[in-house]
Parts: sequence; structure tokens; C-alpha cells
Amino acid sequence: MRKIEYATDKKKWAPSLIPGPLALISTINRAKEPNVAPKSWLQMASFEPPILMFSGSKGNTTEKNLLATGCFAVNLVDSTMAAKAFSCIEWFGLERIEKMGITLSQARKISAPLIDQCPAHLECAIRETHEVGGGFIVYGEIVAASIREDILGAAPADRYRLLDQIVFLEDDLCARVRDPYPARRSAEGPASRKWTRYVISLTRTDKPMTGAAVRRHVAHLKKLDRQGRLELCGPFKDGKGGMAIIRAGSLEEAKAIAESDPFIKEGLETYALREWELSCEENNHMGMG
Ligand SMILES: Cc1cc2nc3c(=O)[nH]c(=O)nc-3n(C[C@H](O)[C@H](O)[C@H](O)COP(=O)(O)O)c2cc1C
Repeated sequence: MRKIEYATDKKKWAPSLIPGPLALISTINRAKEPNVAPKSWLQMASFEPPILMFSGSKGNTTEKNLLATGCFAVNLVDSTMAAKAFSCIEWFGLERIEKMGITLSQARKISAPLIDQCPAHLECAIRETHEVGGGFIVYGEIVAASIREDILGAAPADRYRLLDQIVFLEDDLCARVRDPYPARRSAEGPASRKWTRYVISLTRTDKPMTGAAVRRHVAHLKKLDRQGRLELCGPFKDGKGGMAIIRAGSLEEAKAIAESDPFIKEGLETYALREWELSCEENNHMGMG
């Protein structure tokens, strides 16, 4: 395939060629006032000792704070936090924290706080700073790390979906990291879960529907979404039921999910479950394209 010239200016990249993990960097100043700011030019720099780096702008509060107190925390952003991370730069300082509606907790080993609503945290002590071009690079040694208990408690294959990490692409665009697959095994073929979904068709019974039951059903769907299991869902316009398309590790797991829906548990709907193999360009239409 022919290659054509592309911009060297990152601001013009669409698509971005270097997506970066979106994090909220939390710091504290000498007066112990906290600050949080989104950053995506973030990367590991050394395994041993564990050192990461991010590139910032020298005049920002984040950089001033970390130079003053010698530490910062990387709070990973998931899809529930992404909109806040993008829009929070409208405000500054304590007002930003207040408008984001986030809460802060004491870190294990550093004086900078951690953001409670983020799924994982890296506590860093400053090692070095460098000016490169227009950038200010901060190297921090990871002195402590923490992650939501349910993420580590899940099967390895489910952990990325639960972490639900966000990468920054360009402008207002971000993406979820939730579809891992073994690089050296072909991602093609119906044997891989990557190409399997489960379709739950819901049919109304005669039992009268209530607003409270709908809210319980929606809470169930939201939980599935947070777990990265929900693809699509919604009621049919004829009022006779609905459909949910989900990801699951097996038919048994999908059955358990369907049966945990309050609509099913409370007898408001019955369900039929079907395993669905995806046929698309990416898997060469199941190898038949
Ligand atoms: C999605 C997103 C990613 C960002 N990534 C970076 C980054 O990697 N480095 C940087 O210096 N600023 C980045 N910014 C801009 C800073 O967050 C912004 O300048 C902020 O106001 C700095 O806040 P502070 O002065 O409290 O440190 C990003 C902003 C957004 C919305």
C-alpha cells in the first residue's frame, strides 16, 4: 500500500499516532493545598527502579507543586471519569476539584493525595526533571501503587475491561482500553471470545411494570457497562420487551448475567439467550471473506 506524507505537528494528527494514557496528576503545594490536572504524555521510563515520566508545561500549578514538594500521584482515568478529566481544565486550583465533584484521600507514601473515584494510583517521588524543546519532563520513582480490589479479584482476562482505562487521542477524542487479546495467537476465528457476543432477548410478561423495577433494571445495565460487559441494550418500541447484547466468558456466564437482571428475577420479563459469532472485516468474515 502506498504511504503518503503526514503532518509532523502532533496537533494536526487525526488519527493520533501516539495515544497516551489519560491520568489525573495530583499534587500538593507547600501550604498543603491540593491540585489535580489531566495529563496524557505519560510513559514508563525504567523497570528497576520503577520510574515513569510525563511531559508538562513548566508554568503550570502541577509542575510548580511537584518541584516544591517532590512528589505527585498518577490517578488513572476510566470511562466514568473521562468527561470530567477533559472538561476540568476550565477551572483552576481548588475550584477545579470542587467542580469535578471528586474526593481526595491520603496516599500511602507521599504527601500528594489520591483521587478516590479513580480505579488505580501510582505514588511517585521526583527523581529528575528535564527541559526538552517546549516540554518539561518529570521523572518520578513509583514508591507505592494501589488498584481497586475488584479488578485484581477478577480473572486476568477481565481485568482490563474492569480497569476500563482511557487513552487520549486528539482534541475531544479518547478511547477505552478494554479489548485485550494475545498478540501471538490469531485474533481471528470464532474460537476466540473476541468475536463472540451473547444476545439476551427479553419478553414482557403480564405482570405490571413499575418505575422502581425499571430503575433496578437500569442499575443492573449500568453495572454491566462499568464492567465492560454491555455492548448494546434497549426496549423495543412495541413495548413487548427489549434486547441486550453482552460480552461474557461463556454461555454459562451469560446465563448467570441474564438471570441476575431484576426484570427476570421479579418475573416481569422472560428471556431467551443466544451465542452470537461476529462476522466483520476485522476477522475477514470468520475467515470466509
Ligand atoms: C485530555 C487532556 C490531556 C492533557 N495532557 C497534558 C499533558 O500531557 N501535559 C500537559 O502539560 N498538559 C496536558 N493537558 C493540559 C493541562 O491539563 C492543562 O494545561 C491544565 O490546566 C494544567 O493545570 P495545572 O495548572 O493545575 O497544572 C491536558 C489536558 C487535557 C484535557
